[in-house]
Amino acid sequence: MRLALINRTGGLEFLEDHIRAACPGARLEYWPSEAAREAEVAICWDPPDGTLADMPNLRLVHSIGAGVDRILADPTLPDVPVCRIRDDDLAVAMGEYCHWATLWFHRGLDPVPRNAAAGHWHRFEQRPASQVPVCVLGLGDTGRHVACRLRDAGYPVRGWSRSPHDIPGVVCHAGPEALPLALADAQVLICLLPLTPDTTGILGHATLSALPPGAGVVLCSRGEHLDRAALVTLLRSGHLRGAVLDVFPQEPLPADDPLWREPGVLVTPHMSALAKPRRIVVQIAENLRRLDRGAPLLNRVDRARGY
Ligand code: GLV
Repeated sequence: MRLALINRTGGLEFLEDHIRAACPGARLEYWPSEAAREAEVAICWDPPDGTLADMPNLRLVHSIGAGVDRILADPTLPDVPVCRIRDDDLAVAMGEYCHWATLWFHRGLDPVPRNAAAGHWHRFEQRPASQVPVCVLGLGDTGRHVACRLRDAGYPVRGWSRSPHDIPGVVCHAGPEALPLALADAQVLICLLPLTPDTTGILGHATLSALPPGAGVVLCSRGEHLDRAALVTLLRSGHLRGAVLDVFPQEPLPADDPLWREPGVLVTPHMSALAKPRRIVVQIAENLRRLDRGAPLLNRVDRARGY
C-alpha cells in the first residue's frame, strides 16, 4: 500500500522510522511529489486545501492527532473515511497540564514571576480547592478525564458540551442555552472543545464576560476558539485575572506577537498533550490492516459532527 505524509509546513519525518517498522510492506512518500499524489492513504496534520482531492487513489485520510479540524476545513475534502488518534496517555497528559494551570490561578502563582523579577515578596491568600469552581468546556475522552481529575482534587467542577453527558460528581450542562449556567461561578475556565463551525470563536466577549470577575482562562483546544481581542479587552479591564494559552491559529506563535508580552497571559508552546509517535503509528497500522480486509475502521470521524 502506498502512504503519503502530508503537512502544509512539512515536519512529519519524525514518524518515518515508526511507520517503516510498523508497516513493512508499505511505500512511504512525502507530499508534495507525484508519488505522494498516487497514494491510497494520506497521513496528515494540516493538508493544504485541494491536496486530498487531487489524489485519485485515495481510500483513507488519517490524522496524526486527536483533532481533525485542519483536515475537515478543506472544502474539497473527498468522500473517503477520516480517522483520528485516540490515546489514553494524551488524556492523562492533558489532565496534568490542566491541573497545573488550575493551580496557577487557584494558588496565585500567576503574579509570582513578575513579583520575583522585581524582588517583591507578596503572598496570595490560600483558598481550599472546594472554593474554586472550575468549568470544563468539552466532555469527550480528554475533557472527561480532566473534569474527573479536578473533581478528585477537590474542585467543584462544571462541565459543558454540545450533547448531554453524565459524569458522577460533575455538574454537566449541554447545549448553547446552558453555557451561561456552566460559566456563572467558574474561577477557572478550561477549553477542550473540538474545533467546528459551531465552536469557532466561542471564547468571545459574551462567554468571557459571563465568567465572574477574577476568573482565569485556560485554552488547550485550538487557537480559533478564542477571540483574542475580547480576551485582551477583558484582561485590561480587570474582569479576567489571566489566561494560560497553549494553542494559536498560527503555530509557532511568531516571536513578535504581542500576546507573548500581554500582562496576565502565559503562552506555552502547544505542549499540553501530544500523542507519542509510536502510539500514532500503532493506530494507523491497525487501520491499514482493517482497510485491507474491509473491516470497520477505528476512531472514524463523524464528518457531519466535525469530530
Ligand atoms: C493535538 O492538538 C491533537 O489534536 O492531537
